[in-house]
Amino acid sequence: MDSITVRQMDFHFDKDMELVFVDQDPAMSYMFLGSWMLLPYLEPYLIRSVRMAMKQVNDQELKEEMQRFCAQEGNHYKEHAKANEVVRLRSGAADKLQALEDTIDAEYKRLSKEKSLRFNLAYAEGFEAMTSATSRAQFEVGFFDAMHSPIRELIEWHVLEELEHRNVAFEAYEAVSGGYFYRLFVGLWAQWHFISLSMKLAKILRDADPNTFQKYNSRSQRWLRIKRTSKYLLKALPKVLNIYMPWYSPRKFELPAVLAQVQKRYNELATTTR
Ligand SMILES: [Fe+2]
Ligand SMILES: [Fe+2]
Repeated sequence: MDSITVRQMDFHFDKDMELVFVDQDPAMSYMFLGSWMLLPYLEPYLIRSVRMAMKQVNDQELKEEMQRFCAQEGNHYKEHAKANEVVRLRSGAADKLQALEDTIDAEYKRLSKEKSLRFNLAYAEGFEAMTSATSRAQFEVGFFDAMHSPIRELIEWHVLEELEHRNVAFEAYEAVSGGYFYRLFVGLWAQWHFISLSMKLAKILRDADPNTFQKYNSRSQRWLRIKRTSKYLLKALPKVLNIYMPWYSPRKFELPAVLAQVQKRYNELATTTR
C-alpha cells in the first residue's frame, strides 16, 4: 500500500443520473455533491502548492511522490468536473451554483498568489489529514456499499488514492518549513474553510429540491440514516481527533484491510495505470 498509483479513469455520468446516490439519504448525498463542486478549484490549488514546494525539496523519493500526488489530484478534479456538470444541470440552480463556484475559484487563486508557501502547504496538509481520517473510517464501515453507481466508483477511486498519497502534503510541509502549531492552526482554518464552502454549495442544492426530501422522510428511512451515520461517526471521530495530536503522522496509522482488494479493482477499471 506504499505505492502511489496514477490511474487514468474515464467515468460516464448520464444526464438523468440519480442525485440521491447514498441509498435513502438525500441530505448525505447533497452534502457530498456540494463538497465535490469545490474540487475543480481546491485540487488545482493543492497541486500549485505542492509544485511550488518541489523546487525546495532535494529528496528524490519525496519529489517523485509529490509528482504522483499532483498527477492523482489532477485526475480527481477532472473526473469530478464531469459529474459536477450533470449535477449543475439537474439541480435547477445552475446559475446560483456557478456564481458561488466563480467566487471559490477566485478565492483559491488568491490564496496561491497572496499567501506564503508555508501557509499553502499547511492548508494542503489540513485538508489531506482530514480526508485521510474520514476515508479510513468510510472503508472500515463499508460506507460505499450504500452508494449507487456511477458515483460510488468515482468516490471510492478518489478516496483510495487519497489514502495512497496521504503522506505527501505532510512531508512536503515538514521538508519546506515544519512546525506543529502553525500546521495545527492553519489546518483547522483550512478544514473550517473547506467545510463552510461545501455547506454553502450543498444548501443551494437542497433549497432547489425540497420535494426529494419529502420523498425520503418515513420513520424507517430516518432510522436507517441515524444508524448508518452514527456507525460512521463512531469510527471517524477518534481518527479526526488524532490528526490534531503533536505526535500525528500519516505514516503511523493502520490502513483498512480491504484496501488491497479495492486497489486491484480500480487498477482493472482504469484505462491506464502507472
Ligand atoms: Fe483528490
Ligand atoms: Fe489528496
